[in-house]
Amino acid sequence: MYTTSLWIRSSFVFACLLALTVAGCSGENGGADADGEGDEIELRLVTTRPTAPKVWDAAIKAFEAEHPHISVTLETTPNNSSELHALLTQRLANEDPSVDVFMMDVVWPSEFALAGYAQPLTESFNFATRDEFFASGIEAYTVEGEIYAVPFFLDAGLLYYREDLLEAHGFSPPRTWDRLVEQAETILTASDNDALRGYVGQFKRYEGLVCNMLELVESAGGDVSDPMNPQTLVALEFVAENLAPLMPDGVFTYEEQHAYDAFRSGNAVFMRNWPYAYAANVEEGSPVKGKVGMAPLPRHGGGDSVATLGGWGFAVSAFSRHPEEAWKLVEHMSSGETQRSLAVATGKVPAHRLSFEHTEVQAAQPHFSQLQSVIERARPRPKTPLYGPISDILQRFYTDALREFEDPHTLVEQAQRAAQRIRDANRRAGLTE
Ligand code: GLC
Repeated sequence: MYTTSLWIRSSFVFACLLALTVAGCSGENGGADADGEGDEIELRLVTTRPTAPKVWDAAIKAFEAEHPHISVTLETTPNNSSELHALLTQRLANEDPSVDVFMMDVVWPSEFALAGYAQPLTESFNFATRDEFFASGIEAYTVEGEIYAVPFFLDAGLLYYREDLLEAHGFSPPRTWDRLVEQAETILTASDNDALRGYVGQFKRYEGLVCNMLELVESAGGDVSDPMNPQTLVALEFVAENLAPLMPDGVFTYEEQHAYDAFRSGNAVFMRNWPYAYAANVEEGSPVKGKVGMAPLPRHGGGDSVATLGGWGFAVSAFSRHPEEAWKLVEHMSSGETQRSLAVATGKVPAHRLSFEHTEVQAAQPHFSQLQSVIERARPRPKTPLYGPISDILQRFYTDALREFEDPHTLVEQAQRAAQRIRDANRRAGLTE
């Protein structure tokens, strides 16, 4: 099934390329030249809601000024990766030409490549330019030698902690999960803030849950995509029995922003979040301004600190009627200049390494110096065209395992069911016998 659709989509792309070469034009509206003269073209860029809309608006306005015949519409409905994935795959499966450029999560390239949803950008995004980016971003978007997006920003899971509360107890940032639990318990017992909780993260049933569980499971030597791995089960038991009691009741509905809000309002000792969340320490009006520390996530005794690699890039839809203009927009939005503006305004980590190292960025975000090695060592989620369905199975497994934890025996039964579902999914897709 995948092979057939790949063939159909490749033929479509090939036919478009041939039409472009023969006609020397840019799709059915054709006729736009490098000076921006020609028919009016509207490009639609689909993304999750930007954290810095002003940076996006300014970048889009600059692009439109440079290309007066192109106007760009920004479509930003869904809030999280899973929702954007659902919306895009539905529209791209219908070959909807209204999407020209879209933001691609680092975990989608294999799926989108095989389904033929994204144009390979291999020719346009040349090797010399790719060298200016962090290798992990380039690798994430490369599938069988073709690259499907230009990396925009990278993410890696981090531990944020209330420096003031830890210091008051003479604690240094915890290096192990056991130690984190002990510290949180001591601080909660001594605190007169009834709303204070020990730990917040992303535990809603969506993509963010897989990122959090990868860190907890793989720092214990488990494997996030193998529920039956004995160390996966050890880590899960730890989370259910030791970490979950420190979390707010509503944590199973928490995405990044909910965790951030709880921590920023002073109601959490520890938070797991992405690099942007350092804003809690520096933002005007933040109740915890100047009281926040940032560290690599803890490990389990004997294991390593593991941060999930996240991030987003700009991709061109295989069904865009204006692939050349769409590429120009991608080039503009992912330029070093836009990445630097975003980093300065929000603390998001530029995927463009040269921009990350740029003095202007380092001066605006001095804590970036602590981030480089975490970003470089961040661990990717499984790279498979079946990532979407497998992630759904894992989300269900981890939610049930944590919410309904009874005993190790029940956990093994849940793990067996999840492992069977993964095997069935792979078999249906013809990826295993
Ligand atoms: C962030 C990451 C992305 C991840 C998502 C999960 O947006 O950049 O890779 O899938 O969080 O919530």
